[in-house]
Amino acid sequence: AFGLGLYGGGGDGSEGGGCNGTEGPAAAGPDQLEGPGSIENDSIHLKRRVGLISGVALIVGTMIGSGIFVSPSGLLLRTGSIGMSFVIWMACGLLSLLGALSYAELGTMNTSSGAEYAYFMDAFGAPPAFLFSWASTLVLKPSQMAIICLSFGKYAVEAFVTQCEPPEIVVKMVALLAIVVILYVNCYSVNLATSVQNVFTAAKLVAVLIVIIGGAYKISEGNTQHLRQPFKNTQYSIGNIATAFYTGLWAYDGWNNLNYVTEEIKNPSRNLPRSIVIGIPLVTVCYALINISYLTVMSPMEMQTSEAVAVTFGNRLLGVMAWLMPLSVTISTFGSANGTLFAAGRLCFAASREGHLLDILSYVHIRRYTPAPGLIFHSIIAGAMVLYGTIDSLIDFFSFTAWIFYGGSMVALIVMRHTKPNYPRPYKVPIIIPYMVLLISIYLIIGPIIDKPTIEYLYAALFILGGMIFYVPFVHYKLRVPFMDGITVFLQMLFEVAPTSNMFE
Ligand code: ARG
Repeated sequence: AFGLGLYGGGGDGSEGGGCNGTEGPAAAGPDQLEGPGSIENDSIHLKRRVGLISGVALIVGTMIGSGIFVSPSGLLLRTGSIGMSFVIWMACGLLSLLGALSYAELGTMNTSSGAEYAYFMDAFGAPPAFLFSWASTLVLKPSQMAIICLSFGKYAVEAFVTQCEPPEIVVKMVALLAIVVILYVNCYSVNLATSVQNVFTAAKLVAVLIVIIGGAYKISEGNTQHLRQPFKNTQYSIGNIATAFYTGLWAYDGWNNLNYVTEEIKNPSRNLPRSIVIGIPLVTVCYALINISYLTVMSPMEMQTSEAVAVTFGNRLLGVMAWLMPLSVTISTFGSANGTLFAAGRLCFAASREGHLLDILSYVHIRRYTPAPGLIFHSIIAGAMVLYGTIDSLIDFFSFTAWIFYGGSMVALIVMRHTKPNYPRPYKVPIIIPYMVLLISIYLIIGPIIDKPTIEYLYAALFILGGMIFYVPFVHYKLRVPFMDGITVFLQMLFEVAPTSNMFE
């Protein structure tokens, strides 16, 4: 039960107050993924310590991150009007709730950690499950990390540049620096990483509260001039609306987070759906209030051009305390990035233990017990994305890929209602819900392509399918490349890492 020793810290973190860090599958070994409900007689036991409160905290803590501080401008740009933006913000909340309820059925049916991976395995077999871990280690996790770090850079730099737009290259350098620091923290120790997480989650709530209370104060003063004529200038193009959804949905991403740790939830069939029904509407209400707050101090026009809305908000409202805003947002985003890398490390680790990725990525540092190679690998990809992408392009790239898999999970649910009709389903979602989410995900995937076929979508699609090129020889036929072992040994010496079995058995 080595995974527990290494990653137990993640569970602690989640108790402490909703850290993103626990979102990855907790070193799910093959035995955990065999079939639904295998947990009870499983040799590997994760402690069930996530109750209702920590479940809610875990959802809220992951969902609130960078998005609400960077997306409002982009969303407004894409919809043209504050009214339409607001409708989309709320629709994103609803969609996340419906998606999460469907995930609750999947998660209580198959309680092994690993979420999509486990459901695809059950419903469709190994190749789609492989494509999921392939895409999430190579695209989803690194792009999340890159987006959050770029947002961090934006806010950190914006705090110092008041007059002009912050130079892009500086923002990127700061984002890269953040990646390096977070990588260091995560390679240094698991405990350090989870402590960072808890402290930083608190900062996030401070930022949210400042904006909401500030906005309420402004409204009480009668500052509602920007809220009149909400639908003026609305743009109704199908593709614009779909990409506006991408921007909004980024802020809500993480709604399926609890499914990655179902093994650690106490009484999951009750607490999983309840945490979802409390957590997601809570975030939706916060986002609604924050959006209104922003508009009490700036016009829609100013919001569109603001590089960092929360900073503009702070400058207009907080006077000498204006520094509080960029500070709490940078802390919040730093924390989210930390949690994302932490989770990415676990995911990478779990996937390579399944034989789905290079062996070296599942190795652990010999003294620090951190999955350093996986972390370094993720950080390199995230760094490249920071250099070559922008927040908006990365959000589109991420959301497109993510919704392919969220839609896939809906198909998995529907398929299993037919192929495994008698399986115990402690929580059964009304079947109309997954159908609705599936339809919307198809729209979200196809809408932007039809409207504006950019090459990124093609890359993303080819990339996911390209996974098969590796799957067939290396995973299915277990082909070994002759010089690979030499490289692995070399990297092992370089990073001082070893396979976990050597250390713990
Ligand atoms: N919603 C978060 C934000 O606005 C991003 C969450 C990324 N997803 C995740 N599973 N960590 O920054």
